[in-house]
Amino acid sequence: MTFRQAWEAALYGPDGFYRRERPAQHFRTSVHASALFGQALAGLARAVGATRVVDIGAGSGELGKVLRSEGLDVLEVELDDDLPARLTGLVVANEWLDNLPCELAELDDEGTPRYLLADLSLGEVVEGNDLGWLSAWWPLREPGDRAEIGLARDLAWAEVVRRLDGGVALAIDYGHLRTGRPPYGTLTGFRNGRECEPVLDGSCDITAHVALDSLAAAVPGGTVVMQREALLALGVTATRPDHELSRTDPLRYLTELSSAGEAAELLDPSGLGGFGWVWTGTGDSVVRRASRALSA
Ligand SMILES: C[S@@+](CC[C@H](N)C(=O)[O-])C[C@H]1O[C@@H](n2cnc3c(N)ncnc32)[C@H](O)[C@@H]1O
Repeated sequence: MTFRQAWEAALYGPDGFYRRERPAQHFRTSVHASALFGQALAGLARAVGATRVVDIGAGSGELGKVLRSEGLDVLEVELDDDLPARLTGLVVANEWLDNLPCELAELDDEGTPRYLLADLSLGEVVEGNDLGWLSAWWPLREPGDRAEIGLARDLAWAEVVRRLDGGVALAIDYGHLRTGRPPYGTLTGFRNGRECEPVLDGSCDITAHVALDSLAAAVPGGTVVMQREALLALGVTATRPDHELSRTDPLRYLTELSSAGEAAELLDPSGLGGFGWVWTGTGDSVVRRASRALSA
């Protein structure tokens, strides 16, 4: 069994992690960090003229709650839900693709890439499209170097974008670019809010960063923007209120101070602000509007 097959079973099999657990109990996404995140996405939806948001991999629906309070119609897509054949409006996938199991490859002592198996030994030689992806996006250099083959994520995202008919599709995730791939990969486990060994027994979340540049290249017009830049462009600000306000309007001062703290977490370049927003749109005016909304 390849690592990917075991990963799939561990997360999504009959007894898998995501069949039993609520994501918010185990890790914190931008959605959990602050309602400012959902409000900014609502701003993006309005900027492109969308009244509807499709949230793929919606988890417990926390983002949908914020978007609905902003007057948007929301469709949440979770495990076992069929993705509609035609997607319109703003389609968002926040931290979905890092949980999409992919094959892992490691260079053996002879310098040949082989699939990593569930027991962490090396299996068959990597060939075909997987090898093509590795050569193009994540060339391995030294024996022992390991890569997460992003093809499964690229194909899944391309399938979402293929269904987009007038609107914007946005995948948000932690990731890396070809210029800075980590030599041993990024496979990580999460359990009860802490990083842990990514064991394949369904007891923890298992995640690997997304190759943001290959994801963008997998769809027409795909563009990568860092979350920090995107949120700043959408008006999220971590500027603290003037201290004078604490005297004249203490309640407002406290509200603004807390909002600035939450914004700082979303914008932190070494944390959530370093996430990638990979977006694409269909329809000239939608693309123009999205591009304007997402650039400072
Ligand atoms: C890391 S959680 C993110 C939850 C939420 N988007 C957030 O930001 O808090 C990933 C979610 O993707 C869901 N998921 C995984 N594969 C999926 C699929 N093929 N279709 C829809 N949802 C899926 C999982 O069940 C899980 O709830």
